[in-house]
Amino acid sequence: MSVRIPENLLEDILGRVDIVEIISGYIPLKKSGRNFKANCPFHHEKTPSFTVSAHRQIYHCFGCGESGNAFRFLMRHEKMEFPEAVEILAKKAGVILPEQNNPEIARQVSLTSQLYKINELAVSFYENNLHASGASAFRDYLLNRGIKLQTIKEFHLGLAAYEWNSLINYLRSKGIGLSLMEKAGLILPKDAGGYYDRFRNRIIFPIFDIRSRVIGFGARVMDNTLPKYINSPETPVYIKGKNFFGLNLSKDYIRENDFAIIVEGYLDFMIPYQEGLNNIVASQGTALTLEQIRLLKRYTHNVVMIYDGDTAGEIATLRSLDMLIEEGMNVKVVPLPKGMDPDALVRREGVNSLKAKLQNAKSLFGYKLEVLKCRHNIKDAHGKSKIASEMLLTINKFDNAILRGEYIKRLSEEIKVPEHYILEELNKLKPNVGVRSDEGLRVKKSSLGINPAENLLIKFMLEERELIEKIMQELSPADFTDIRTAKIVSVMYDLFTQGKNIEPSILMNYLSEDDASQLVCESMFMPELLEQEREKAVNDCIARIKVQRLKSQREHLHIQIKSAQSLGDEQKLNSLIKEFHNLIKKGD
Ligand code: UTP
Ligand code: MN
Repeated sequence: MSVRIPENLLEDILGRVDIVEIISGYIPLKKSGRNFKANCPFHHEKTPSFTVSAHRQIYHCFGCGESGNAFRFLMRHEKMEFPEAVEILAKKAGVILPEQNNPEIARQVSLTSQLYKINELAVSFYENNLHASGASAFRDYLLNRGIKLQTIKEFHLGLAAYEWNSLINYLRSKGIGLSLMEKAGLILPKDAGGYYDRFRNRIIFPIFDIRSRVIGFGARVMDNTLPKYINSPETPVYIKGKNFFGLNLSKDYIRENDFAIIVEGYLDFMIPYQEGLNNIVASQGTALTLEQIRLLKRYTHNVVMIYDGDTAGEIATLRSLDMLIEEGMNVKVVPLPKGMDPDALVRREGVNSLKAKLQNAKSLFGYKLEVLKCRHNIKDAHGKSKIASEMLLTINKFDNAILRGEYIKRLSEEIKVPEHYILEELNKLKPNVGVRSDEGLRVKKSSLGINPAENLLIKFMLEERELIEKIMQELSPADFTDIRTAKIVSVMYDLFTQGKNIEPSILMNYLSEDDASQLVCESMFMPELLEQEREKAVNDCIARIKVQRLKSQREHLHIQIKSAQSLGDEQKLNSLIKEFHNLIKKGD
C-alpha cells in the first residue's frame, strides 16, 4: 500500500531507535573511537571500512560508499521496501503508524486482507476440484504436459468446473458476500441480473505475491479454443505488471545464484523449475514493466531473458532490454528456435539443454544486432543506417562511457562504417543523463564525484545550524551545480525556515534520491576541521561557488549572444552585450 508516512513520524521513529543496536542485530560491530566498525556487509572486504556513527545515527562504508540511516540499512540489508522498514522500526519504537488510526486507510487494509482471504478460499476450492475423482481428464492433461503430481500440489494448481456458479455457491456457503467476490474478480454480473463464475472449465494457476499471498489467477483451456488463458482483472491486490509469477518460490534461489532467468509463461516457469532450474521468474507474457524490473532488482542485478522463439517474443525481448539496461541491470539473452518455448525445450531435450543454452547466452548487443540483421540489409547504406540508429538507442542507455565506447567499436566493425560516423550519430541523440520521465529528476551515479566546495558547505551546514542562515543569504540552491547538492541545499533551507530538525539521519527522509542521501552521509564522515579553520573554509567555499556561478552565467550569455548574432537580432544583441559587460565587471 502506498501511504505516505509523514516525516515527523519518521523522525519520531528514528529518535527512539538506536542504529548501533539495529545494525549489530545483523553484523558484529566493534567500537573504534567515537564510531563502530565492521566488515562491510554490502561488498567483499578483509579490513573493516563499514562505519556506524552512534552520534549521527548513520552508517557509511569507505570502501563501497553505501550509506544511510536505520531505514536504509534495513532496506539494503534485508531487501525491504521503505514502508516495510518503517513498519518494523515503528514497532520497535512503539510508534503508531497512520494505518492504525485513519479510518479510510483502515478500511482499505481490511478490504485487502479480505481479498487475500477469499482468494485463499478459492484456491482450496479449485484445488479440491482438480483432485476429485471425476477430474482425472484434467489431471491427465497436466501430467501429459510433463507436470508431476508433486508440482501440481506445490503450485496449488486447480480446476474451475464447467458449471456457471459452483464457486459462487461455495463462497456463499463460507459466508462471503457477492460484492466481495466481484471485488476479487472471481465473478461477473449477468446482463439479466445475478452473477456467474468468471473462470469455468479451465485449469487454474494461482498467482502469488512475494509473500506467498494469493493475489489472482490465470486459467487455461484444455483444448486450444481462444483465449487460451484468461486472467484475473486488476483488483486492489492484483495490479498487472507489478509482480512475477513464481518469484515467491524462486527469490532465494535468485539471490543465491545472483542471476534470474526471465521467461514468459506459467508453464515456461513450472517445467524448468520442477527440473531443478530454480532461479527463474515468469513475466506472464509480453514486455517487462519498470515495476517488475525494480522488484527483481531487490534480488539480483543479472538477468537472462528466454522468450519464445516468435515475433511477439522477439519484440517483447527488445523492448525489455532497453528498460533493463536503463535500470542498470546486466542482461543476456537466450534466443530460441522458431516455435519453441522454454517449456517445450526442456520437455523435448531435457533441462541440461536449457542449461547449456544459458552458458552460451548472447550479450544483449549480439542479440539485438542479430535481430536487426534479419530485418535490414547490412550490405546497403540504408540498412546500415537503420541498424546503427536502432543500436545507438540501446548504446545510449548505458551510463558507462567505456561500455559505450566498446559497443561503438563493435558496431563499427559489424556494419563496416568508421567509428567517427557512428559517434557523430550518437552525439545527435539526446544525452541520456539524469532525467527520467517516470519520476522526474533522477541523477545517475557520476564517476566525476561532487564539487568539493559544494560538498564541504553541506557538511558545515549540517554541523552548525547557524551557518545555514549566513549561507542562505549568499547562495541559492540553484548556485549548486550538482543536482544532488542543489536538492540537499534546497531541502535544508526549507527545513531551516520551518524551524525543523536538520540532523543528517532525518534530512535523509526528505531526499528520495539515494545518491543525495549517500552524499549527506559521506560528508558527515569527512574529517572535521578545527574551529579556527572552519570560518575561512566556509568563506572560501562560498567564494568559489560564486565564481563558478559567474562563469556559467557568462557561458550562457555567450551562447545567447552567438545565437542573436546569427539571427541578426540587433536589439537583443545590444542588450545581451550590455549584460555581458556588467557581468565581467562583477567578476573583477
Ligand atoms: P504463450 O502463448 O506463450 O503460452 O503465453 P504458454 O505459456 O506457452 O502456454 P502453453 O504452453 O500453451 O500452456 C505466455 C503467457 O502469456 C500469458 C500467460 O501468462 C502465458 O503463460 N497469456 C497468453 C495470457 O494471459 N493470455 C493468453 O491468451 C495467452
Ligand atoms: Mn508453452
